[in-house]
Amino acid sequence: ATSGEEQDVVIVGGGPGGYVAAIKAAQLGLKVTCVEGRGTLGGTCLNVGCIPSKALLNASHKYEEAKHGMAKHGITFGGEVAIDVETMMGHKSKAVTGLTKGIEGLFKKNKVTYAKGWGKLLSANEVNVTMEDGSSEVIKTKNVVLATGSVPSALPGVDADEETIVTSTGALELKKVPETMVVIGGGVIGLELGSVWSRLGAKVTVVEFADKICGAGIDDEIRTTFQRSLKKQGFNFKLSTKVTKAVKKPEGGVTLTLEPSAGGEQTELEADIVLVSTGRRPFTDGLGLEDVGVETNRMGQIVIEPHTFKTNVPGVFAIGDIVAGPMLAHKAEEEGVSVVEQIAGKKGHVNYDTIPSVIYTHPEVAWVGKTEAEVKEMGIEYIVGKFPLAANSRARANDDSEGVVKFLTDKATGKILGAHIVSGGAGELLAECVLAMEYGATAEDIARTCHSHPTVSEAVKEAAMAATPGMGSIHF
Ligand code: FAD
Ligand code: NAI
Repeated sequence: ATSGEEQDVVIVGGGPGGYVAAIKAAQLGLKVTCVEGRGTLGGTCLNVGCIPSKALLNASHKYEEAKHGMAKHGITFGGEVAIDVETMMGHKSKAVTGLTKGIEGLFKKNKVTYAKGWGKLLSANEVNVTMEDGSSEVIKTKNVVLATGSVPSALPGVDADEETIVTSTGALELKKVPETMVVIGGGVIGLELGSVWSRLGAKVTVVEFADKICGAGIDDEIRTTFQRSLKKQGFNFKLSTKVTKAVKKPEGGVTLTLEPSAGGEQTELEADIVLVSTGRRPFTDGLGLEDVGVETNRMGQIVIEPHTFKTNVPGVFAIGDIVAGPMLAHKAEEEGVSVVEQIAGKKGHVNYDTIPSVIYTHPEVAWVGKTEAEVKEMGIEYIVGKFPLAANSRARANDDSEGVVKFLTDKATGKILGAHIVSGGAGELLAECVLAMEYGATAEDIARTCHSHPTVSEAVKEAAMAATPGMGSIHF
């Protein structure tokens, strides 16, 4: 499959970390091969993650709007609004295939060699690739970038069969809308995919080990606002609770045994479908790390030197979900660019303080930088500037005014420490906050920037005004 020539760099894994690194490497003039075993490029994100989940979130949002949100605007439908799951899934698959094929096209355009098979390190300079037909080939290379990503972590006592007990992968492929769904783990995957099936009619219960949803990292006030919104949408939450056992019933469905997280009396909960979304683990199975002596930590992550992505084995680098940091596609991409820039002898840098987080529910939740609790912990004087979406004219006209924009700024310098948004399209609104932080802007810089009227982005401007001493918002 490959030319047999020695490569400047071999990238193992064709996800957002790996494929972006491969394209960038080629653009920098390096001879590059990307090894990917799943048969399509794009990794978790394009095949079974970001893209299919967003396709289903979009479809289910449209359904929900048609079913419940249109009549008040005078829009009615002749018959009952219905969902055909097969058609919805068909559209999702088409989006995925279009995009994964698109990356193959980008590889061709940029002259990246695509080795279709599973890679294994033989040494720092040799990667063995096992092809689909069982044949194998050894590629010689000056450098190796490992970007093999992550897979759902297993939950003891709850064995996923991807039909009734599913991980995110199975939850993106259900054949019909379940009447009841139990989501184990109230993190991003559980809340996004729980939203999909809840909107389509499933009664969703989230069982979460911690006493709050969304884990660490999210601002507490934003979390409370978000959870209230999900409850209003019909989500049921069982916090501080763990699942100890799942038994599949012969007639279909599952009986779960629950227990308070701290231990105590057991109860049972029935569900047609159970989604296990209790986190993901780095995937390095069969990669030959032990043979070559690449160091991993107790979480299974490959240990790297911060910023250079160097492992303990010279010439071997690692990026994306297999190394520490948030398991996010855009984080993997930034690392992919940075690592090959450095291999090419250029400067490359990732600013981990400005990596945005988005939960693509409705409303969306998006943030960058520090939470209020973290700012408090820093022990500095800070300002909170907030603006409710209910006071934004476009959000009102759109009938989509649930949410808030919240800025945290340093009282002494005015610099933005954190931005937190709950709103329809919050992920898009956040981009200007990320840019502002990247440029070291103050809230006043945003407050004095002309924003188009009427746009929801004016809520960002108004919150920045509220976070600027002596200024204050106009419309609230
Ligand atoms: P992956 O995307 O996991 O890619 C690794 C690739 O390496 C895989 O294709 C795998 O087949 C291949 N591979 C592994 N071992 C080998 C080997 N030995 N040889 C050859 N190939 C190998 N992130 C976001 O930022 N936004 C989102 O909206 C979002 N939504 C998500 C929704 C879901 C349901 C899930 C599960 C994840 C989501 N993520 C999202 C997370 C995102 O998918 C990951 O952070 C991202 O894909 C990580 O990129 P990566 O390149 O490190 O690894
Ligand atoms: P997560 O780490 O976000 O959430 C897991 C949740 O499960 C936590 O709240 C945790 O307390 C809980 N939990 C752990 N063990 C439990 C148990 N035994 N019983 C009950 N609850 C338990 O992990 P998740 O949702 O699986 O997502 C994995 C990764 O995928 C995330 O790190 C995220 O970065 C990425 N992702 C990102 C998306 C986005 O950016 N929009 C969307 C989906 C996934």
